[in-house]
Amino acid sequence: MILSMSGVRKSYTTAEGIVEILKGIDLDVGPSDSVALTGESGSGKSTLLHLVGGLDHPDSGSVVMEGQDLAAFSDIERASYRRTQVGLVFQQFNLIPSLNVGANISFHAKLAGRYDAAWEAILTEKLGLETFLARYPEQLSGGQQQRVAIGRTLAARPRLILADEPTGNLDEATGDAVLDLMLSLARSAGSALLLVTHSSRLADRLDRKVVLRGGRIAD
Ligand SMILES: Nc1ncnc2c1ncn2[C@@H]1O[C@H](COP(=O)(O)OP(=O)(O)O)[C@@H](O)[C@H]1O
Ligand SMILES: [Mg+2]
Repeated sequence: MILSMSGVRKSYTTAEGIVEILKGIDLDVGPSDSVALTGESGSGKSTLLHLVGGLDHPDSGSVVMEGQDLAAFSDIERASYRRTQVGLVFQQFNLIPSLNVGANISFHAKLAGRYDAAWEAILTEKLGLETFLARYPEQLSGGQQQRVAIGRTLAARPRLILADEPTGNLDEATGDAVLDLMLSLARSAGSALLLVTHSSRLADRLDRKVVLRGGRIAD
């Protein structure tokens, strides 16, 4: 397994008091596995992804990535983990407006010390972005921006890609095409994929589908 979550609990303090969102999550993801995480809005899918991405801490339980428990990381190790081992793709593209498309794509790979010009050329071609490399994010359509965001994540060849409704802002046909690309490129990169989607049509295209319900994983 590259990712093992066990007994993960997470609650938030709200105006109504403490609300427990995750009530004991057990989830394993193998190398080059693609797993769809589905569940109703508010069920805790983004919360779960944030814990795996090292953006937040569980109240209890463990998140173990390649044998390392995230809870044991120092701040520096956590930052390095986020830079080198996981790749995040969100619905908001989070591109850097002052960098052109080419620089946006190579940005994380360079930070991770894994910049590879040949791999980036393949990504750029497959994502259909060759003619856009000198443009800035604001000069692209939503679908094009999302392809840049996916290229940026894949360029760094993360062990695990965490994608949170990455095609949620795109129309259905564009979203499907972008997801197909992401799936095949994740396989080429040797990256595992944990993808949040509320579309069961999209979920069916992955190796495995799990449902988050009542704070637990129900297969
Ligand atoms: N930082 C926070 N503080 C308080 N409540 C939160 C916070 N983040 C999320 N929640 C609540 O936790 C629940 C799960 O949220 P989320 O993980 O975003 O669900 P999903 O992604 O499945 O729609 C929701 O009820 C949401 O309002
Ligand atoms: Mg969410």
